[in-house]
Amino acid sequence: MSTVALNLADESNPLSQADKPNGGTVHLDGIKRSTELNLSHGRILYLEDVSVSFDGFKAINNLSLDIAPGELRCIIGPNGAGKTTMMDIITGKTKPDSGQVFFGSTINLLEYNEPEIAQLGIGRKFQKPTVFEQLSVFENLELALKTDKRVKASIFFKLKSEQKTRLLEVLETIKLEDSINRQAGNLSHGQKQWLEIGMLLMQEPKLLLLDEPVAGMTDQETHRTAELFLELKGKHSLIVVEHDMSFIKTISEKITVLSEGCVLAEGTFDQVQSNEKVIEVYLGR
Ligand SMILES: Nc1ncnc2c1ncn2[C@@H]1O[C@H](COP(=O)(O)OP(=O)(O)OP(=O)(O)O)[C@@H](O)[C@H]1O
Ligand SMILES: [Mg+2]
Repeated sequence: MSTVALNLADESNPLSQADKPNGGTVHLDGIKRSTELNLSHGRILYLEDVSVSFDGFKAINNLSLDIAPGELRCIIGPNGAGKTTMMDIITGKTKPDSGQVFFGSTINLLEYNEPEIAQLGIGRKFQKPTVFEQLSVFENLELALKTDKRVKASIFFKLKSEQKTRLLEVLETIKLEDSINRQAGNLSHGQKQWLEIGMLLMQEPKLLLLDEPVAGMTDQETHRTAELFLELKGKHSLIVVEHDMSFIKTISEKITVLSEGCVLAEGTFDQVQSNEKVIEVYLGR
């Protein structure tokens, strides 16, 4: 693992660092590198021939994938296809045995660890909500800024007016304006999921990875989540892994079907739904 000193902004003013969530420079093994996201090739994320094995089992097998800026990409596929492992690789939780993983056309994600990748602007939502149950909705969102590693003097932290504006915007986006002072532990499962997405949004991620976001939600919550994702698309790039095919039908443009660690098919909902191979390994079960 490389020793990395992040130097994103003026250390003497911690708030100036929060103002600059993406972009800057990092020092990697003494070499100064730019972390400006370069989208000139029309892709925000690029995986090529990525493989990883666990005890000889190839969980990801020569996987190649391209995500465009602002795209909402759906990923489907059977249990054990490698969908979560793919997210583990993008976010630095798992290092692949081979292959390339780029954020934009210049940032080699394999050179960064998990917290650094989060700071570069890749947010991840795990399946289980992990909000702070004892705190209010407002406090959870506020904390999403405080726990930002760039804000070092967090005990002296006070929201600046633009951060307050951002917090209120996020509250509206996640449809929790009316619950601002409610204790997070009293929210419904769906609302907790939205709050956690809100906490990610506070960091203004460029790319959001969402693993089975509507699992356990009511139909109404699922519907509102679809609206939320369609609203986020364009402002952020999203990768959504889901087994709920009616949800996928509502939000999808392009779908990637993973099976046995690689891409089995790619296309629109109708193309994927009528694909014989996809029916055989997944939809027809
Ligand atoms: N850290 C690990 N150690 C050992 N095996 C692992 C590890 N992570 C994943 N695997 C294995 O890799 C394969 C792919 O798992 P993964 O969780 O990525 O599938 P998935 O497509 O997300 O499935 P699901 O739809 O059930 O969530 C599985 O066989 C799993 O047991
Ligand atoms: Mg999974």
